[in-house]
Amino acid sequence: MRIVALTGAGMSAESGVPTFRDAGTGLWARFDPQALATPEAFAADPARVWGWYRWRAAGVAAAQPHAGHAGLARLARAHALRVVTQNVDDLHERAGSREVVHLHGALFTSRCSRCAQPAAPEPLLRPARAGDDGRVPPPDCARCGAPVRPGVVWFGEALPSAAWDAAVAAVREAELAIVVGTSGLVQPAASLPGLAAAAGAAVLEINPTPTPLTASATASWRCSAAEGVQRLAARLDAGERDPAALIS
Ligand SMILES: NC(=O)c1ccc[n+]([C@@H]2O[C@H](COP(=O)([O-])OP(=O)(O)OC[C@H]3O[C@@H](n4cnc5c(N)ncnc54)[C@H](O)[C@@H]3O)[C@@H](O)[C@H]2O)c1
Ligand SMILES: [Zn+2]
Repeated sequence: MRIVALTGAGMSAESGVPTFRDAGTGLWARFDPQALATPEAFAADPARVWGWYRWRAAGVAAAQPHAGHAGLARLARAHALRVVTQNVDDLHERAGSREVVHLHGALFTSRCSRCAQPAAPEPLLRPARAGDDGRVPPPDCARCGAPVRPGVVWFGEALPSAAWDAAVAAVREAELAIVVGTSGLVQPAASLPGLAAAAGAAVLEINPTPTPLTASATASWRCSAAEGVQRLAARLDAGERDPAALIS
């Protein structure tokens, strides 16, 4: 069966990586992630934004993929399954998924903010001491001296076109689209489930909370990502191939 898994921050929540909505703990609680994840925020205060990404990167590095990540990687061995994620973490890859499409970039691909030279070795994986206010100055580009930035797509920036094209191709081909742990608020990623449906796919939402995508989904399972993926995998393993029965 041709399946596309469209995953968002809720996919990583059970691994202990906070979503943007419940990121509000500790030092960074008083900052709005949407206000930190912008080119304007980085230009105004690079050390504050870099410090925040250092904090997020440390959380991701300490996290482990869960049974939902592993389930998708395993299903890809028996089915034409593509993972398209809004997540910048590497939990899908660490669970064994290959060729993951990262619509919003990847945390551990920092590059120069001016000339785009990749920063190596990856600075977000090196230890650094933050100030009491969480600030950490980003390193300078080895080629041109401008500050290094995280390899993620910030609010207001265009998506990498190759990733977007791969995502559209995957949803157009899919018989089943599963939409896991995304609030459906960030465009254009939020338009992918609709594209899948328009191309004839059954759309299953896996999310403990209703979202704007719920109304147009073929079915919604109000459960966690790990639980939902495991339930789907069990039905596929049992030989069920009818999309409507799979997601009922
Ligand atoms: N891990 C990451 O890489 C990460 C983390 C936070 C935010 N982001 C970025 O934030 C932006 C916000 O979009 P978004 O829709 O991905 O996230 P979001 O924070 O807006 O929404 C998260 C969704 O996950 C659901 N959820 C929470 N726990 C869940 C669980 N255990 N299982 C399944 N679903 C669960 C919530 O109900 C919510 O609908 C994206 O651009 C994304 O790149 C990424
Ligand atoms: Zn440079």
